[in-house]
Amino acid sequence: MRSAYLTLEDFFTVRLRRWQRPHLLRLIGPGPETRILDVGGGTGAATSAYTAGSREVVILEPSRKKVDHGRRQRSGIRFAEGTAEEIPFPDGSFDRVVSLASFHHFRDQARGLREIHRVLNEGGRLVIFDVDPGTSQGKVSRFFENDVMGNGCTFSDPARTRDLAVGAGFAEVSVQPVGPGYFLSASKAPAPAQ
Ligand SMILES: C[S@@+](CC[C@H](N)C(=O)[O-])C[C@H]1O[C@@H](n2cnc3c(N)ncnc32)[C@H](O)[C@@H]1O
Repeated sequence: MRSAYLTLEDFFTVRLRRWQRPHLLRLIGPGPETRILDVGGGTGAATSAYTAGSREVVILEPSRKKVDHGRRQRSGIRFAEGTAEEIPFPDGSFDRVVSLASFHHFRDQARGLREIHRVLNEGGRLVIFDVDPGTSQGKVSRFFENDVMGNGCTFSDPARTRDLAVGAGFAEVSVQPVGPGYFLSASKAPAPAQ
């Protein structure tokens, strides 16, 4: 993947996703004490739009090319190479975990959500945005990713993603359909007192 191509992709990512920003700021609520992990964050173009003022921003991304490009472009963000299914951080490392347009790429979504739950601290929050396969854009995305690109993506509808989040141990799971997709937010409940 050429660097010029990634720069162009960054530009369109930011422009096309501007409408998401108010939703993300409300759901994530970044602050000076907030540590945020963006799973499948690519080069960080979208990440920068909703993490300003946070204590720490980390992108976990499996593509080495995207990680290298992101490191060159965005010195304020820490990048780590890896996947949702095996997050290379200790338990309770983050206050927020965000996954934008990457959940359908997870090879094992249930395992990815369990890993996200593990690295959140108690009271921490997960925010997902993904396209809904029931919408026309969802159908186009599925066709493009799977039939054209052969990426073998799993586009879960909002109800299935909610069930998977509950199965991974999340509480206060709520889903909000917006445009071509949906936001899911959920929290990690404090462990019951012994
Ligand atoms: C459509 S891009 C979205 C990038 C960015 N989040 C955004 O909003 O622009 C999907 C990203 O998910 C990444 N990805 C693929 N498989 C993944 C996995 N198993 N775990 C986490 N991320 C993955 C891809 O490399 C890609 O950067």
